[in-house]
Amino acid sequence: MPLVTTKEMFEKSMKEKFAIGAFNVNNMEIIQGIVDAAAEEKSPVILQASHGAIKYARIPYLRKMIEAALEENDIPIALHLDHGPDFETCKMCIDNGFTSVMIDGSKYDFEENVALTKKVVDYAHSKGVVVEAELGKLAGIEDDVNVSEEDAMYTDPEQAKEFVERTGCDSLAIAIGTSHGAYKFKGEARLRFDILTKIKELIPNTPIVLHGASTVIPELVATCNKYGGDIPGAKGVPDEMLHEASISGVSKINVDTDLRLAMTSEIRKVFAEEPKVFDPRKYLTPARESIKNTVKHKIKDVFGSSNKI
Ligand code: G3H
Ligand code: 13P
Ligand code: ZN
Repeated sequence: MPLVTTKEMFEKSMKEKFAIGAFNVNNMEIIQGIVDAAAEEKSPVILQASHGAIKYARIPYLRKMIEAALEENDIPIALHLDHGPDFETCKMCIDNGFTSVMIDGSKYDFEENVALTKKVVDYAHSKGVVVEAELGKLAGIEDDVNVSEEDAMYTDPEQAKEFVERTGCDSLAIAIGTSHGAYKFKGEARLRFDILTKIKELIPNTPIVLHGASTVIPELVATCNKYGGDIPGAKGVPDEMLHEASISGVSKINVDTDLRLAMTSEIRKVFAEEPKVFDPRKYLTPARESIKNTVKHKIKDVFGSSNKI
Protein backbone atom coordinates (compact mmCIF):
# COMPACT_ATOMS: atom_id res chain seq x y z
CA MET A 1 0.00 0.00 0.00
CA PRO A 2 1.19 3.60 -0.58
CA LEU A 3 2.30 5.89 2.24
CA VAL A 4 -0.64 7.04 4.35
CA THR A 5 -1.26 10.16 6.41
CA THR A 6 -1.73 9.78 10.16
CA LYS A 7 -5.43 10.70 9.95
CA GLU A 8 -6.94 7.22 10.00
CA MET A 9 -4.42 5.70 12.39
CA PHE A 10 -5.03 8.53 14.88
CA GLU A 11 -8.82 8.17 14.59
CA LYS A 12 -8.49 4.48 15.42
CA SER A 13 -6.03 5.19 18.25
CA MET A 14 -8.43 7.67 19.89
CA LYS A 15 -11.38 5.33 19.51
CA GLU A 16 -9.61 2.21 20.73
CA LYS A 17 -7.23 3.85 23.21
CA PHE A 18 -3.75 2.95 22.07
CA ALA A 19 -0.77 4.92 20.79
CA ILE A 20 1.25 4.73 17.61
CA GLY A 21 5.02 4.74 17.79
CA ALA A 22 6.81 7.42 15.80
CA PHE A 23 10.38 6.31 15.35
CA ASN A 24 13.24 8.48 14.08
CA VAL A 25 15.03 7.15 11.01
CA ASN A 26 18.50 7.97 9.74
CA ASN A 27 19.67 4.99 7.70
CA MET A 28 18.70 1.65 6.18
CA GLU A 29 19.29 -0.55 9.21
CA ILE A 30 17.11 1.69 11.39
CA ILE A 31 14.29 1.71 8.83
CA GLN A 32 14.47 -2.07 8.38
CA GLY A 33 14.55 -2.76 12.13
CA ILE A 34 11.50 -0.58 12.78
CA VAL A 35 9.44 -1.76 9.82
CA ASP A 36 10.25 -5.45 10.37
CA ALA A 37 9.01 -5.10 13.96
CA ALA A 38 5.83 -3.23 12.99
CA ALA A 39 5.08 -5.75 10.22
CA GLU A 40 5.46 -8.72 12.57
CA GLU A 41 3.15 -7.00 15.05
CA LYS A 42 0.68 -5.95 12.31
CA SER A 43 0.92 -2.41 13.64
CA PRO A 44 0.62 0.96 11.95
CA VAL A 45 3.86 2.92 12.23
CA ILE A 46 5.18 6.44 11.73
CA LEU A 47 8.69 6.87 10.33
CA GLN A 48 9.96 10.35 11.09
CA ALA A 49 12.97 12.22 9.82
CA SER A 50 14.38 15.27 11.54
CA HIS A 51 16.06 18.18 9.76
CA GLY A 52 19.37 16.58 10.83
CA ALA A 53 18.31 13.18 9.48
CA ILE A 54 17.43 14.73 6.13
CA LYS A 55 20.80 16.45 6.01
CA TYR A 56 22.53 13.16 6.87
CA ALA A 57 20.64 10.63 4.72
CA ARG A 58 19.23 12.96 2.03
CA ILE A 59 15.61 12.98 0.90
CA PRO A 60 15.91 10.77 -2.22
CA TYR A 61 17.56 7.99 -0.18
CA LEU A 62 15.04 8.24 2.63
CA ARG A 63 12.16 8.16 0.17
CA LYS A 64 13.48 5.21 -1.81
CA MET A 65 14.29 3.16 1.29
CA ILE A 66 10.81 3.78 2.64
CA GLU A 67 9.37 2.91 -0.77
CA ALA A 68 11.21 -0.40 -0.44
CA ALA A 69 9.69 -0.94 2.99
CA LEU A 70 6.22 -0.37 1.52
CA GLU A 71 6.96 -2.79 -1.29
CA GLU A 72 7.92 -5.53 1.18
CA ASN A 73 5.15 -4.99 3.72
CA ASP A 74 1.43 -4.44 3.87
CA ILE A 75 1.06 -2.18 6.91
CA PRO A 76 0.10 1.51 7.12
CA ILE A 77 3.28 3.63 7.15
CA ALA A 78 3.30 7.43 7.44
CA LEU A 79 6.37 9.52 6.57
CA HIS A 80 6.65 12.49 8.90
CA LEU A 81 8.98 15.49 9.24
CA ASP A 82 10.06 15.71 12.90
CA HIS A 83 10.62 19.19 14.38
CA GLY A 84 10.29 21.18 11.17
CA PRO A 85 12.08 24.41 12.08
CA ASP A 86 10.47 26.73 9.50
CA PHE A 87 7.92 27.00 6.68
CA GLU A 88 10.51 26.31 3.97
CA THR A 89 11.59 22.95 5.42
CA CYS A 90 7.95 21.89 5.82
CA LYS A 91 7.19 22.91 2.24
CA MET A 92 10.22 21.04 0.93
CA CYS A 93 9.05 17.84 2.67
CA ILE A 94 5.43 18.29 1.55
CA ASP A 95 6.64 18.75 -2.03
CA ASN A 96 8.77 15.61 -1.69
CA GLY A 97 6.12 13.11 -0.71
CA PHE A 98 6.04 13.33 3.09
CA THR A 99 2.49 12.64 4.27
CA SER A 100 2.82 14.53 7.55
CA VAL A 101 4.95 17.40 8.83
CA MET A 102 5.62 18.92 12.20
CA ILE A 103 6.08 22.65 12.45
CA ASP A 104 7.84 23.27 15.74
CA GLY A 105 6.94 26.81 16.72
CA SER A 106 7.40 26.15 20.43
CA LYS A 107 10.42 28.43 20.52
CA TYR A 108 8.26 31.41 19.54
CA ASP A 109 5.68 33.27 21.59
CA PHE A 110 2.03 32.19 21.30
CA GLU A 111 0.98 34.61 18.53
CA GLU A 112 4.06 33.90 16.40
CA ASN A 113 3.57 30.16 16.88
CA VAL A 114 -0.09 30.50 15.77
CA ALA A 115 0.85 32.51 12.67
CA LEU A 116 3.66 30.17 11.57
CA THR A 117 1.63 27.02 12.23
CA LYS A 118 -1.37 28.40 10.33
CA LYS A 119 0.82 29.20 7.33
CA VAL A 120 2.13 25.61 7.26
CA VAL A 121 -1.37 24.16 7.79
CA ASP A 122 -2.79 26.15 4.86
CA TYR A 123 -0.08 24.91 2.50
CA ALA A 124 -0.06 21.32 3.80
CA HIS A 125 -3.83 20.91 3.65
CA SER A 126 -3.92 22.20 0.07
CA LYS A 127 -1.65 19.22 -0.76
CA GLY A 128 -3.44 16.61 1.37
CA VAL A 129 -0.73 16.55 4.04
CA VAL A 130 -1.41 16.69 7.80
CA VAL A 131 0.34 18.92 10.35
CA GLU A 132 1.56 18.37 13.89
CA ALA A 133 2.20 21.52 15.93
CA GLU A 134 3.72 22.06 19.37
CA LEU A 135 2.66 24.18 22.29
CA GLY A 136 4.67 24.31 25.51
CA LYS A 137 8.37 23.71 26.07
CA LEU A 138 10.26 20.48 26.69
CA ALA A 139 13.14 21.07 29.11
CA GLY A 140 15.90 18.60 29.90
CA ILE A 141 17.41 18.40 33.39
CA GLU A 142 20.47 20.09 31.98
CA ASP A 143 18.31 23.20 31.57
CA ASP A 144 18.11 23.37 35.37
CA VAL A 145 14.85 25.29 35.74
CA ASN A 146 13.17 26.01 39.08
CA VAL A 147 9.64 24.87 39.92
CA SER A 148 7.76 27.99 38.79
CA GLU A 149 9.77 28.16 35.59
CA GLU A 150 8.97 24.48 35.07
CA ASP A 151 5.23 25.11 35.56
CA ALA A 152 5.34 27.87 32.95
CA MET A 153 6.78 25.45 30.40
CA TYR A 154 3.94 22.94 30.58
CA THR A 155 1.20 23.26 27.98
CA ASP A 156 -1.69 25.42 29.17
CA PRO A 157 -4.93 23.50 28.38
CA GLU A 158 -7.01 26.63 27.60
CA GLN A 159 -4.28 27.91 25.30
CA ALA A 160 -4.11 24.50 23.63
CA LYS A 161 -7.80 24.75 22.74
CA GLU A 162 -7.41 28.25 21.33
CA PHE A 163 -4.26 27.20 19.46
CA VAL A 164 -5.92 24.24 17.76
CA GLU A 165 -9.01 26.26 16.85
CA ARG A 166 -6.99 29.12 15.37
CA THR A 167 -4.41 27.06 13.47
CA GLY A 168 -6.45 24.07 12.30
CA CYS A 169 -3.50 21.79 13.07
CA ASP A 170 -4.24 18.06 12.90
CA SER A 171 -2.39 16.98 16.04
CA LEU A 172 -0.71 18.69 18.97
CA ALA A 173 2.55 17.96 20.78
CA ILE A 174 2.28 18.92 24.44
CA ALA A 175 4.71 19.47 27.31
CA ILE A 176 3.83 17.48 30.44
CA GLY A 177 7.30 16.75 31.78
CA THR A 178 9.12 14.76 29.09
CA SER A 179 12.28 16.00 27.41
CA HIS A 180 14.58 14.92 24.62
CA GLY A 181 17.69 12.81 25.09
CA ALA A 182 19.01 10.39 27.70
CA TYR A 183 18.73 12.62 30.80
CA LYS A 184 15.09 13.35 31.47
CA PHE A 185 14.74 13.35 35.25
CA LYS A 186 16.95 14.18 38.21
CA GLY A 187 15.02 12.13 40.76
CA GLU A 188 11.89 10.08 40.18
CA ALA A 189 10.25 10.23 36.76
CA ARG A 190 7.16 12.41 36.92
CA LEU A 191 4.63 13.31 34.21
CA ARG A 192 1.71 15.72 34.62
CA PHE A 193 -1.17 13.41 33.72
CA ASP A 194 -3.55 15.99 35.24
CA ILE A 195 -2.62 18.40 32.43
CA LEU A 196 -3.09 15.68 29.81
CA THR A 197 -6.56 14.91 31.20
CA LYS A 198 -7.56 18.59 31.10
CA ILE A 199 -6.31 18.97 27.54
CA LYS A 200 -8.26 15.88 26.43
CA GLU A 201 -11.39 17.29 28.07
CA LEU A 202 -11.08 20.56 26.15
CA ILE A 203 -9.97 19.14 22.78
CA PRO A 204 -11.13 15.50 22.80
CA ASN A 205 -10.88 15.08 19.03
CA THR A 206 -7.32 16.34 18.64
CA PRO A 207 -4.69 13.60 18.62
CA ILE A 208 -2.05 14.34 21.27
CA VAL A 209 1.67 13.75 20.72
CA LEU A 210 4.34 12.99 23.31
CA HIS A 211 7.89 13.98 22.40
CA GLY A 212 10.95 13.00 24.41
CA ALA A 213 9.31 9.72 25.30
CA SER A 214 12.17 7.22 25.26
CA THR A 215 12.46 4.92 28.25
CA VAL A 216 16.26 5.15 28.13
CA ILE A 217 16.16 1.38 28.58
CA PRO A 218 18.46 0.56 31.51
CA GLU A 219 19.77 -2.71 29.97
CA LEU A 220 20.85 -0.89 26.81
CA VAL A 221 22.57 1.86 28.80
CA ALA A 222 24.31 -0.82 30.91
CA THR A 223 25.54 -2.62 27.78
CA CYS A 224 26.86 0.64 26.32
CA ASN A 225 28.68 1.42 29.56
CA LYS A 226 30.01 -2.13 29.95
CA TYR A 227 31.66 -1.99 26.55
CA GLY A 228 33.42 1.36 26.82
CA GLY A 229 30.55 3.84 26.76
CA ASP A 230 30.26 6.72 29.20
CA ILE A 231 26.61 7.59 29.81
CA PRO A 232 26.20 7.55 33.58
CA GLY A 233 22.94 8.46 35.32
CA ALA A 234 20.80 8.35 32.18
CA LYS A 235 17.07 8.15 32.90
CA GLY A 236 13.88 8.14 30.81
CA VAL A 237 10.13 7.62 31.00
CA PRO A 238 9.25 4.18 32.44
CA ASP A 239 7.15 1.79 30.36
CA GLU A 240 4.25 1.96 32.85
CA MET A 241 3.92 5.73 32.36
CA LEU A 242 4.03 5.41 28.60
CA HIS A 243 1.37 2.73 28.75
CA GLU A 244 -0.75 5.01 30.94
CA ALA A 245 -0.31 7.80 28.37
CA SER A 246 -1.28 5.42 25.55
CA ILE A 247 -4.64 4.62 27.13
CA SER A 248 -5.24 8.20 28.28
CA GLY A 249 -5.45 10.02 24.98
CA VAL A 250 -1.88 10.18 23.67
CA SER A 251 -1.97 9.02 20.04
CA LYS A 252 1.66 9.39 18.97
CA ILE A 253 4.76 8.58 21.03
CA ASN A 254 8.14 9.73 19.72
CA VAL A 255 11.19 7.54 20.16
CA ASP A 256 14.72 8.23 19.04
CA THR A 257 17.08 7.90 22.01
CA ASP A 258 16.13 4.25 22.66
CA LEU A 259 16.92 3.40 19.03
CA ARG A 260 20.30 5.09 19.32
CA LEU A 261 21.04 3.10 22.46
CA ALA A 262 19.80 -0.15 20.89
CA MET A 263 22.09 0.28 17.92
CA THR A 264 25.16 1.59 19.74
CA SER A 265 25.08 -1.01 22.51
CA GLU A 266 25.30 -3.88 20.01
CA ILE A 267 27.99 -2.22 17.94
CA ARG A 268 30.05 -1.52 21.07
CA LYS A 269 29.66 -5.14 22.15
CA VAL A 270 30.94 -6.53 18.84
CA PHE A 271 33.84 -4.08 18.74
CA ALA A 272 34.85 -4.96 22.31
CA GLU A 273 34.41 -8.73 22.04
CA GLU A 274 35.61 -9.26 18.48
CA PRO A 275 38.47 -6.85 17.76
CA LYS A 276 39.35 -8.70 14.57
CA VAL A 277 35.97 -7.88 12.99
CA PHE A 278 35.97 -5.17 10.35
CA ASP A 279 33.08 -6.28 8.12
CA PRO A 280 30.27 -3.75 8.84
CA ARG A 281 27.64 -6.45 8.38
CA LYS A 282 29.04 -8.24 11.41
CA TYR A 283 28.05 -5.37 13.70
CA LEU A 284 25.17 -3.82 11.76
CA THR A 285 23.22 -7.10 11.73
CA PRO A 286 22.98 -7.34 15.55
CA ALA A 287 22.42 -3.56 15.67
CA ARG A 288 19.43 -3.88 13.34
CA GLU A 289 18.11 -6.85 15.34
CA SER A 290 18.39 -4.83 18.54
CA ILE A 291 16.35 -2.01 17.00
CA LYS A 292 13.74 -4.53 15.90
CA ASN A 293 13.48 -6.05 19.40
CA THR A 294 13.24 -2.61 21.02
CA VAL A 295 10.47 -1.46 18.67
CA LYS A 296 8.59 -4.75 19.02
CA HIS A 297 8.56 -4.43 22.79
CA LYS A 298 7.20 -0.89 22.63
CA ILE A 299 4.48 -1.70 20.09
CA LYS A 300 3.36 -4.90 21.79
CA ASP A 301 3.86 -4.35 25.51
CA VAL A 302 3.68 -0.58 25.92
CA PHE A 303 1.80 1.32 23.19
CA GLY A 304 -0.77 -1.42 22.44
CA SER A 305 -0.78 -0.97 18.66
CA SER A 306 -0.33 -4.65 17.68
CA ASN A 307 -3.03 -5.93 15.32
CA LYS A 308 -4.43 -2.41 14.81
CA ILE A 309 -3.94 -2.12 11.05
O1 G3H B 1 13.78 15.26 18.82
C1 G3H B 1 14.80 15.12 18.16
C2 G3H B 1 15.14 13.79 17.60
O2 G3H B 1 15.72 12.96 18.57
C3 G3H B 1 15.97 13.96 16.39
O3 G3H B 1 17.28 14.28 16.73
O4 G3H B 1 17.77 16.31 15.35
O5 G3H B 1 19.63 14.84 16.24
O6 G3H B 1 18.14 14.05 14.38
P1 G3H B 1 18.27 14.91 15.60
P1 13P C 1 13.66 10.84 22.78
O1 13P C 1 14.92 11.63 22.83
O2 13P C 1 13.09 10.66 24.16
O3 13P C 1 13.80 9.55 22.08
O4 13P C 1 12.57 11.71 21.98
C1 13P C 1 12.57 11.70 20.58
C2 13P C 1 11.67 12.76 20.01
O5 13P C 1 10.87 13.40 20.67
C3 13P C 1 11.76 13.01 18.57
O6 13P C 1 10.97 14.07 18.16
ZN1 ZN D 1 10.81 15.63 19.63
